[in-house]
Amino acid sequence: MEFVQDPATLRQKLHEIRRQGKSIGFVPTMGFLHEGHLSLIRAARAQNDFVVISIFVNPLQFGEGEDYEDYPRDLESDSRLAAAAGCDLIFSPAVRDFYPPGYATFVEVQGSITEGLCGTARPGHFRGVTTVLVKLFNLVAPEHTYFGQKDAQQCLVVKKMLEDLDYNLQFHIMPTVREADGLAMSSRNKYLTPRQRAAAPVLFQSLQQAESLIRGGERDVASLKDAMRNLIASVPETEIDYIEIVDTNELKPVEQVRGSCLIALAVRIGSTRLIDNIILEV
Ligand code: PAF
Repeated sequence: MEFVQDPATLRQKLHEIRRQGKSIGFVPTMGFLHEGHLSLIRAARAQNDFVVISIFVNPLQFGEGEDYEDYPRDLESDSRLAAAAGCDLIFSPAVRDFYPPGYATFVEVQGSITEGLCGTARPGHFRGVTTVLVKLFNLVAPEHTYFGQKDAQQCLVVKKMLEDLDYNLQFHIMPTVREADGLAMSSRNKYLTPRQRAAAPVLFQSLQQAESLIRGGERDVASLKDAMRNLIASVPETEIDYIEIVDTNELKPVEQVRGSCLIALAVRIGSTRLIDNIILEV
């Protein structure tokens, strides 16, 4: 497996790969890899001749007071895990090479898809995500790219950007990978104290509770959100950022559950903000 930091070297190497007629699968990450990332790398391995992952903690998608400086980083362990999962090349640029002084171009998906859910609490976050991804997609020029459903809003924003900008790129959304107790895998789980870690499965439990109420016939979104809120509030150290039930196209809140809907939430446990979601067809 190769490790490349310089964007020009990456272009050169991938030009040669394409010249050999090989297809490229790409998994963008911010590193500190866990089973969720590895499932994406394995999916890319199964469908492509050459697998590239990026490891880049993108400053543009962190707001003021967020955890950019503290975000966990471990390139040595990442390299080992990525190689074992079938990665051929890691691209991990320095911030000053990726956004050199004078960098001034940004890509933004507008409308309800970026305004609600995490867009409300993290203004500018998705603009940072789409900007870094356009640059990465341009550099890597993959045929296939792989994202996790845990970041459901990010998936829909990126899908919309790829459609709007006429990208010829197959976009794959892979299922959320969970710990045995249901907690969605996330690099940020590392911040949790043992007590907070014990509290964290309540996010998924509240989603499961909503699903079972819906399967039992409940359609009223206000009642479903109340039930979820009560369950989460019963666990110490939790503070709800949002619980939303939205349609899966424009991510607009609905009053009654019908068709395809996304149930999404963000909850602070201590100072760690965790997200999770499920998609239901009703
Ligand atoms: O999901 C992430 O890890 C990041 O948002 C991404 C897609 C790598 C862009 O920095």
